[in-house]
Parts: sequence; structure tokens; C-alpha cells
Amino acid sequence: MASERDFEKAVKACYSTWSRTYYQDYYGDKAAYPPVHLHLIRGLLLKAGAKKVLDAGCGPASLLRDLAADNFDLYGFDLTPEMVAEARRVMEGLGSPKDHIWEGSVLSPQSFRPPGAGKAAAFDAALCVGVLPHIPAAADREVILNLRQAVRPGGLVVLEARNQLFALFTLNRYSYEFFMEELMRVEDWRQKLGPDAARLEGVWPRLKERFRLDLPPVRQGKSGEPGYDEVISRTHNPLVLKEQFQEAGFAEVELLFYHYHCLPPMFEGEAPELFRRESLAQENPTDWRGYFMASAFLLAGRRR
Ligand SMILES: C[S@@+](CC[C@H](N)C(=O)[O-])C[C@H]1O[C@@H](n2cnc3c(N)ncnc32)[C@H](O)[C@@H]1O
Repeated sequence: MASERDFEKAVKACYSTWSRTYYQDYYGDKAAYPPVHLHLIRGLLLKAGAKKVLDAGCGPASLLRDLAADNFDLYGFDLTPEMVAEARRVMEGLGSPKDHIWEGSVLSPQSFRPPGAGKAAAFDAALCVGVLPHIPAAADREVILNLRQAVRPGGLVVLEARNQLFALFTLNRYSYEFFMEELMRVEDWRQKLGPDAARLEGVWPRLKERFRLDLPPVRQGKSGEPGYDEVISRTHNPLVLKEQFQEAGFAEVELLFYHYHCLPPMFEGEAPELFRRESLAQENPTDWRGYFMASAFLLAGRRR
């Protein structure tokens, strides 16, 4: 594995206490929202006729365990040792060989093959879900290229990201940051306008008032370790990431949105059951409203 970077240390610490509960929290029957992406990914794998499948950043084998009934030849690696141990325990219980799960980072090309495997393993498909938020922007391309390299020509790659454009629907801290940093790029403006920028300084506090900056609550760790929002946890613009994905050498690229919100999430508490039911009813991976109302998306493409 490549030398450990500081942000990876923090991410590892964040996930170290989560290995036994993560599956129940996000995939179990009491999850706040069902794992709708599982159905999409399974469909993509079956459509592609994939057999040998790698999950890069597999966590506690959340996807892998649910794909096990389909007769795929499943492999996975993860950065966090506790996640690797849990994934091994679960997959061994399902009859998968122990060496199909290993420790590694999506930033290291060697991690994309089982330890001891001589040359790059030609997987039919590589999945990467929940990992890209924890990668600095400058390394996004590296991750995409590593995923591409892991599959045979024509092989399928499915990459998940949190939808940055959802900020236009949430009216909270994310929206304010999106306006200031991505749409208007106020810091660039300040540099460019020099003293003239002072004429706009009164605007920013007034704009700020329009958003609920106290929402969403910052997710903290359980016992001293950093929480999800205290480590690098980025969102991605689907329009930009799709371009990057195509430029990296993928064809037949599809953008699939999921985890819809029928209302801005701050109103969920008004009618939680209705919120969940209507959000689920809205799940449609190709609806244009997904650009704004879905909090996550998958990019799927074939290696050229
Ligand atoms: C949100 S969880 C998702 C787990 C699983 N893929 C799923 O969808 O349920 C993120 C996982 O990514 C792993 N991770 C974070 N950064 C990573 C990296 N650079 N390389 C490999 N795994 C990483 C974490 O250890 C954690 O298990």
C-alpha cells in the first residue's frame, strides 16, 4: 500500500468504530432509507454479464454480501482494518475464500489486485461506493484511472458520489457554501475586484440569512474518533464528474440518480412516513429532477 496520507488516517479512525453497525445502519431493515442503489448496481452487473467483480472500498462487505446469492465471483478491499476484518468474517460465512478480501487504498494501483496476484487482475466489473467523498479533489482522476485499470477492456465500472447539486434543494449550510464557493466563487471575486469588492461585502451576510446554516447537524464520532463530517467528506457535481469519467476512457456512460427527497430534508420531521413513502415513489434514476432532489448518483461506464 502507498504511504499513508494524513487524511486517510483520519478516515480510517472515523470508520474504525463502525464496522459492526454500518450494515444495519444503512442496509438493514431499520435503515432510515432503503439501499435503493443495491438494486441499480445488481441490474448493471447482470446486464453487463459480469462474473468477476471487485468492490473497491467495500466496507463491511455491505454490497458484496447482498450480491453473494447471484453467483458472482466477489472480491473487495478497504482502507480500514476493522472493515476488512468484518468483511472477511461475513464473506467467509457465505463461503467466499479469505483472500478475496484485503486491505488497500483506492489511491494505490496495487490495491486493485489481491495480494500476491502477479499482474493486474482483469475484473469484469469494479464498484466503488461511498469512497469518493473521502478523496481530495486533486486525486479524483487517480481513483477513476485506477478503477479503469482494474477491469478488462469492455469491463464495467460503477462509481458512486454524493450529489453536490442537491444543495440547491436543501436550503441549508450546503446551499450557502455552494452559492459562495461554486456558483459565485466569492474569494476569486475579492481578489479580482480588489477595493471594489467592498461594495458587495454587505450582500454576503444578507444572503447567509436565507439559509439554515445550523442544518444538517454535524455528524460526530461515537467515542473520540472523528465523525463523518469531521473528516474529508466531499460532494461531487454530476455534470463535471461525468465529463471526467468520459475523458478518463469510458464509453456508454450513464448517470443514475438515487435517494430522492420529496421535500427539502429539513421538513422530513413534519410527516416522516409520508416523506419516506413519497421519496421512494419518486425513485427514478433517469428523471431530470434527480439532479436536484437526489442526494447521490452512480456513474456507470465501459472501459474503452
Ligand atoms: C461510506 S463507507 C461505504 C462502504 C461500502 N462501499 C458500502 O457502500 O456500503 C466508506 C468506506 O470507504 C472506505 N474508504 C475510505 N477511503 C478509502 C480509500 N482511500 N481506499 C479504500 N477504502 C476507503 C472506508 O474505510 C469505508 O469502509
